[in-house]
Amino acid sequence: VPDCVACGQQNPDGARFCLSCGRPLTASAPAVREERRVVTVIFVDMVEFTSRAERLDPEDVRAILRPYHDRVKAEIESFGGVVEKFIGDAVMGVFGAPTAYGDDPERAVRAALSVRTAVAEMNQRDASLALRLRIGVNTGEAVVTMGARPELGEAMVTGDVVNTAARLQQSAPVDAIVAGAETYICTRDVIRYERGEDIAAKGKSAPLAAWKAVDVGTTTPDADGEALVGRAGELDVLRGVWQRVAETATPNLVTVIAPPGLGKSRLATEFVREVRDSGARVVRGRSFPYRESSAYGAFTLHVKQLAGIFESDSVEVARAKLVTTVERIGAVDGDTVAQHLCILLGLEVEETIADRESLFFSVRCFIEAVAADQPVVLVFEDLHWADSSLLDLVELLSSRLRDIRVMLLALSRPELLDQRPGWGGGLPAFTALPLQPLDDAEARALVERRLAPANGAAGAEIAQRLVDLAEGNPLFIEQLAAVTAERASSIPGELPTTIRGIITARLDALPAPERAVLLDAAVVGKVFWLGALQRVSEEPDRLPDLLGALERRDLVHRETVSAFEGDRQFAFKHVMIRDVAYDMLTRVQRRERHAEMARFIEDATSEVGEAASQLARHWIEAGEPARAVAPLMAAAEHAGRGWAKQRAVDLYQEALSLAEDDDTKREIRRRLGVVYQASFHAMDVQLQRGADQADATSG
Ligand SMILES: Nc1ncnc2c1ncn2[C@@H]1O[C@H](COP(=O)(O)OP(=O)(O)O)[C@@H](O)[C@H]1O
Ligand SMILES: [Mg+2]
Repeated sequence: VPDCVACGQQNPDGARFCLSCGRPLTASAPAVREERRVVTVIFVDMVEFTSRAERLDPEDVRAILRPYHDRVKAEIESFGGVVEKFIGDAVMGVFGAPTAYGDDPERAVRAALSVRTAVAEMNQRDASLALRLRIGVNTGEAVVTMGARPELGEAMVTGDVVNTAARLQQSAPVDAIVAGAETYICTRDVIRYERGEDIAAKGKSAPLAAWKAVDVGTTTPDADGEALVGRAGELDVLRGVWQRVAETATPNLVTVIAPPGLGKSRLATEFVREVRDSGARVVRGRSFPYRESSAYGAFTLHVKQLAGIFESDSVEVARAKLVTTVERIGAVDGDTVAQHLCILLGLEVEETIADRESLFFSVRCFIEAVAADQPVVLVFEDLHWADSSLLDLVELLSSRLRDIRVMLLALSRPELLDQRPGWGGGLPAFTALPLQPLDDAEARALVERRLAPANGAAGAEIAQRLVDLAEGNPLFIEQLAAVTAERASSIPGELPTTIRGIITARLDALPAPERAVLLDAAVVGKVFWLGALQRVSEEPDRLPDLLGALERRDLVHRETVSAFEGDRQFAFKHVMIRDVAYDMLTRVQRRERHAEMARFIEDATSEVGEAASQLARHWIEAGEPARAVAPLMAAAEHAGRGWAKQRAVDLYQEALSLAEDDDTKREIRRRLGVVYQASFHAMDVQLQRGADQADATSG
């Protein structure tokens, strides 16, 4: 009997829609209904519209509001945001939920900037509108109801981040976009800001820092000036392929695959610089997760670069440039090719192409002509976001181009392989180049370059901690180092929002059942067991398969040993992924799951040795500290027997702080006394030994 995820209504088997609320019932209903997530909230409100509306006829008010609302909504959605609600003339949008893309604060600010431009355009077209705005943007943690339907007035996001965004909006100067501190920190590399005046907010201890977003900055995030660290092997692979392409005139599709931040773009930049210096023509195009103007996005950017077309060119100029280029390079059947490319670029809106085969044929003729007397590299960045038509085009070019020197260099996250499991299969010349994390020495070199001149031993220790935390991801190293440098060289207690966003996006890209397994596993810890997951899973039978899939994605790996006999033991590949997954669970969900884990350990172990302190941890997190006392005492006993006296003392003291009845407390104190005595004895022994040694050397 499927329960509705939205309203909880029980429905008959086979029902496809909920009886009560009409929501579609899917087989893979998400197990988690609420999540804690970092979101960016944008508030857009009109200035003094209420007083103006008073003097207008309701129909006129609606005639103004409708197109305005539609436009603001369209802008927000085109950047991947969701409109949560309209409150009178105010619009609230959310980025980072229900799906994160890894750069959600940036999208929100970009959306705000383009809302401002769009409304200015509306005013220009109709001077009587005279719409004035204030916009607030703020980033922070919120509770998100997954599957909420904002269009029916169901709230999706709740948390202080929303109130603060509203507060920033209200105090923004007219036609300004005011961002909160966290939004500013996440986006200052890409957006230009001016410091605004602090805002005193009701019920807040400190005034809010505010930043006015001016425009999208011109600095490229690629720190090209700095030398590349490592990657010698990968560069050699690229050079080798390039040499074959150039010598034998066999086109090759190279696909660099790695999660975000590992340095795909940076590697390509390095390689591209080399081949450009050697006389090759290189064009770069990228796909976006939002605002894709055409299905062949990245490739249309290539064509524009090859034909010298700028975004600012008028349609006539662009078309003329394209026609001239096609003529100059002498493409076969030039007229048709030029016409087809015009259609591809959206320069010819009337015409259509009879079939895709002939469009692709024209593309092929064009590229073959371009590459006839100069080797060419076409870079496709972020191919995981590409439309399937672009993927088809890339594969087709790779299989049909002949006798020319062309390299198609695709950069992609592993998600591409979900969409196209057989990517590259069957192609005559295909190279897959997975990027591994930087090794410790390389990561260290990067950390040291990023941190201010290390201050002695403390500096060295901080550097090592950052190396451990970042797990070989250069982007994470940069982010962690930046935060560390700011907080006067102490390690941040929690992950920077930018990193959390990137990892959340990675989790959101997983199929729902796999994602649910990771969230459950996060409660167990960095190490977890199949048996433990079966206790909380909705589909225990599928778990082995799901864990296998996660292992193939390199998110978890199966360990060869297991703390529980006959049970499979797994571990998260990166502790950061565990932490982010855990942070997504609400407190209620965490408590439920911890209690289940505690019961699992109690059932699985008859004699609690090693597992005792874990058991205690789970009871504490489950909100039942009293049940942690006995296992804590057992763990202390265990530690004491192994002469880990200090640990035994700590555990007994923790047990003492949680114990409720006097008998237990008395017993704990008695045992504590025993351990103290033993540890004094241990100290005596050590001192005695030291003295003996001193005697021996002096004698
Ligand atoms: N090998 C490297 N040496 C130095 N900096 C690097 C290296 N790899 C990546 N970076 C830096 O790390 C950041 C993330 O790299 P990027 O190429 O954007 O990752 P991706 O494209 O895989 O998401 C960039 O600022 C980049 O300059
Ligand atoms: Mg990149």
